Amino acid sequence: MDTKLLKDNIEDISIAAKIINEGGLVAMPTETVYGLAADALNGKAVRKIFQAKGRPMDNPLIVHVSSPQMAIDLKLYKEFTEDAKKLADKFWPGPLTIILPKGDCIPDEVSAGLETVAVRCPSHKTARALIEKSGKPLAAPSANISGKPSPTTAEHCINDLMGKVDAILDGGECEVGVESTVVTLDTNPPRLLRPGGITLEQLESVLGEVAVDDAVLHKLAEGKKASSPGMKYKHYAPKAQVYLVRGNNFVDFVNRDIDESTAVVCFDEDEKYINGETFPIGSKTDYKSHAHKIFDVLRKIDKEEKIKKVFAPLPRTDGVSLAVYNRLIRSSAFRIFNADAYVLGLT
Ligand code: TXA
Ligand code: MG
Repeated sequence: MDTKLLKDNIEDISIAAKIINEGGLVAMPTETVYGLAADALNGKAVRKIFQAKGRPMDNPLIVHVSSPQMAIDLKLYKEFTEDAKKLADKFWPGPLTIILPKGDCIPDEVSAGLETVAVRCPSHKTARALIEKSGKPLAAPSANISGKPSPTTAEHCINDLMGKVDAILDGGECEVGVESTVVTLDTNPPRLLRPGGITLEQLESVLGEVAVDDAVLHKLAEGKKASSPGMKYKHYAPKAQVYLVRGNNFVDFVNRDIDESTAVVCFDEDEKYINGETFPIGSKTDYKSHAHKIFDVLRKIDKEEKIKKVFAPLPRTDGVSLAVYNRLIRSSAFRIFNADAYVLGLT
């Protein structure tokens, strides 16, 4: 397939909208990561998303709208509840996905056979322009090949999807850098299924108690059903083995075990003390920068054939860092070292 490379201007957005209306696929920028969009109400078009990504058919998609009113008018949910209204008032447009029982218009391909649907109103102007120009709600998972880190630039989309989709719309670098927060209001209390740019603390400020799904912090137990199907798949993993390192002695720990096949993801201030190839993700307490850069760094590492081992500092589990923690423990297949114990000779 011939993939059109489109720019962020009115003419090109019109071309992208036409592709959507004809049942095609467009990789589009959002403030979180790039999404691979199709008309959410066209089951046949949505099916193509799964083929292009190599995504298992039992993993449901997020439906993107340009306003809460659009979700209400189209009856995407069975009922747009009070809690959903409160969340939408506060956090839409923005990096929050809300799950509720689905309306009758949602094709099975979107919900992957579940009784619920995930909806989000992105803040990125290009995503919003594409929704408005096409007049369609857009089903869009992250625009990566299944299992790879999500794309945060058009170049990442080109690397994964060239020849497999109708168009890639370049809207620059994604600001947040990790996928949206996913919360379900179909449970009592509401449950955080995936951490992202809207923090658990922010959700609690609106909803009161919010449960945290096991899959956010831990590996899903063998045979246990995932509340969010996406969490059960191997994810975000470069070809090299990633090891996370807990504790204050990160630099000493990694320096003991560096050779030319090692990459070190690090904070900017540690870079000059590390005796090997480094991939800085921002200053130590610039948590937003860590989220913004992490997928790009994982993809850069993946491009270097010689790299077999990657060290990265274990992120914190509060604020936006919880999202980085959640993605990195998956990319490392849950392998964590304790640098302090090691340096003290305890392990
Ligand atoms: O920021 C984002 O959310 C990006 C951009 C493009 O909007 N999209 C994205 O989509 O990350 P995707 O498909 O890569 O991740 C959606 C996650 C998956 O883990 C999926 O299993 C979960 O949301 N999900 C979708 N619908 C669901 C539902 N009805 N119930 C439970 N989990 C659901
Ligand atoms: Mg994804």
